[in-house]
Amino acid sequence: MNGFSDRGGSHGFGPHSAVVGLQWGDEGKGKLVDRLASGFDAVARYNGGANAGHSVVVGGQRYALHLVPSGILAPGVLAVIGNGVVVDPERLIEELDALSARGVDVSSLRISNRAHVVLPYHKAEDGLREELLTAVPSAPDSAPKTAVAAIGTTRRGIGPAYADKVQRATAIRVGDLLRPELLRSKLDLICAMKNAIFRSLHPGDAEQFDAGALTERMLELGERLRASIVDTTYLLNDLDRGGKSILFEGANATMLDVDHGTFPYVTSSNASSLGIGPGTGLPPQRVGRIIGVVKAYSTRVGGGPMPTELFDDTAHRIRERGREYGTTTGRPRRVGWIDLVALRYSAMVSGATELGLTLLDVLAGLDELKLCTAYRTPSGMTDRFLPDGFELGEATPVYESMPGFGDEITGVRSFDDLPESARRYVERIEAFVGVPVRTIGVGPDREQTIEREAGVSAGSGS
Ligand code: IMP
Repeated sequence: MNGFSDRGGSHGFGPHSAVVGLQWGDEGKGKLVDRLASGFDAVARYNGGANAGHSVVVGGQRYALHLVPSGILAPGVLAVIGNGVVVDPERLIEELDALSARGVDVSSLRISNRAHVVLPYHKAEDGLREELLTAVPSAPDSAPKTAVAAIGTTRRGIGPAYADKVQRATAIRVGDLLRPELLRSKLDLICAMKNAIFRSLHPGDAEQFDAGALTERMLELGERLRASIVDTTYLLNDLDRGGKSILFEGANATMLDVDHGTFPYVTSSNASSLGIGPGTGLPPQRVGRIIGVVKAYSTRVGGGPMPTELFDDTAHRIRERGREYGTTTGRPRRVGWIDLVALRYSAMVSGATELGLTLLDVLAGLDELKLCTAYRTPSGMTDRFLPDGFELGEATPVYESMPGFGDEITGVRSFDDLPESARRYVERIEAFVGVPVRTIGVGPDREQTIEREAGVSAGSGS
């Protein structure tokens, strides 16, 4: 017995795999997907939109992907955008053109005809809502916190597009971009409604949208994407039945999941692995191996609580060494120590069968490493996560401390060659979370990865 659940070893439940972030995004999922992609027949995205930013370094060249699945860089692998994704066709085409210009073959892209479309008014609405929230005067510290502060969204129109999906009558799906008359009649109605809302929120200075011009532009973009638009639910299920393998690529991350993250400071989709079923139409039990990606420390972009956040020199040092600036927005990321309470929760929710630890090299040179193992809250100590933005905002971390490692580790390729304190740090993480660490990233390049054998470490939970 090694102390880990036996979900880990065999990948025995279903033939497919998933890579999902277990923190607040930017864990380095892109690099992991890219390393794995060539071993699969398809790589599929199931949630989010152009808010995601996956950077992948191949042969010293950095690619920043937002909507296109990272698998596009693996020759011969289908890159699938599932129905759960919200697609901004302008950005998608920009991204495809940029990839083509660098010699990447993008003909393997398939887009669900049932994915929802992000339109320009969604982006305007996203920005406007954020401005209105920012304008809410903040309550004095002693007052009960009732108002929601700005979420700090990426302003890519994600929330408003998902809101229209759930609203139904005001939604446009990718398949609609190929139906001129239907699209025009929908946009006539939608633009009238959106324009009235914008006028009421911003009298005198409201952005207005022209249904005719918008229809024309969307039809042009639809035409460019026509060859890629298919029913991806049948596509993925046919691949499954034909014995082909699929890698699901989570965007954003588990702590940003609209149901299970730090609500309301989350994104608007099921960004945990739980989004795979609804976001692709493939039954979830077909996915047996779930790789939870974990940064060796914590980062967060945008608003919301982060109990282990640092504001000192250590934060500055980690931010600079880890290049912790948003791939999508360029914003400096908030930085903190690893939060094992949060991690154990998100590994549970996402059903992680193994962990991919990333960016361990960034911590080299720090004298001390801290790991949060419990929270102090107004109602006492707890080692359970508080998946509520307001409750978590009142929690303060309880830390365990470990010695840091001085040496650079970017050239290390085997676990045994890591400095002892780095090994201890990794072992502590897997023991607390109860899931084995199978790979360790020690640098941005594909090759800068340490592979470990199954169940190498034992340990007690907390
Ligand atoms: P939205 O997804 O643009 O609505 O943003 C909601 C929240 O999720 C904000 O705090 C964003 O910064 C955060 N967010 C969304 N996508 C990502 C991501 O891929 N990485 C990190 N943070 C993200």
